[in-house]
Amino acid sequence: MSLSPSTMSTVQATAPAVRERGLEISLRMYERLFQNEEMKSLFDQSRHGEEGSQSQAFAGAPHTYAYAETMDRMADLGPMIERIAQKHVALNIRPEHYPLVGEALLGAIRDVLGEAATDEVLAAWAGAYAFLADVLMQRERDLYQETRAALVGRRDFVVDRIDPDREVVTSV
Ligand code: HEM
Repeated sequence: MSLSPSTMSTVQATAPAVRERGLEISLRMYERLFQNEEMKSLFDQSRHGEEGSQSQAFAGAPHTYAYAETMDRMADLGPMIERIAQKHVALNIRPEHYPLVGEALLGAIRDVLGEAATDEVLAAWAGAYAFLADVLMQRERDLYQETRAALVGRRDFVVDRIDPDREVVTSV
């Protein structure tokens, strides 16, 4: 799968506007996404107990900026994909989550950019999201498989740290 030159150029032309209004887009994206309780709990879990919409906006910011930045540097994706995939796998992000985040992100871009988000612009961002999601899901599927393979059978573990994350959750 690859992106057409016209999709790339539309996304690149609008990336500065998306980046500039990144915080607003993040807030709106999470307002939309967190109508789904499962999505909300995935992000809560990654924020280690920080509360409130501000910390949720910061959780969202990596996403909004990642789309904008990534589109500018399509040729140089490798290390960034690896870092994101590792983070996602640590949080048990699954393929079925991708359409939900995609819908929330595109809806937020439309809400915040208003008339500047023409059908052409939205279609280009949807194409770019689908492309990135595909690359990430493939890498994440391999990482889940490697982890499962490494855990088959009996293993000795050394407890290196115990973090009482929250009142009812302790990470070992
Ligand atoms: C094309 C799709 C996506 C991109 C480009 C993307 C990008 C990113 C980036 C750049 C980070 C920060 C990584 C770091 O800390 O080094 C991140 C973290 C995270 N992502 Fe995604 N992501 C995508 C899809 C998803 C989906 C579908 C979910 C499902 C709910 C998700 C949930 C999360 C969570 C919970 C974090 C941790 C947030 C935090 O600790 O602040 N992401 N993602």
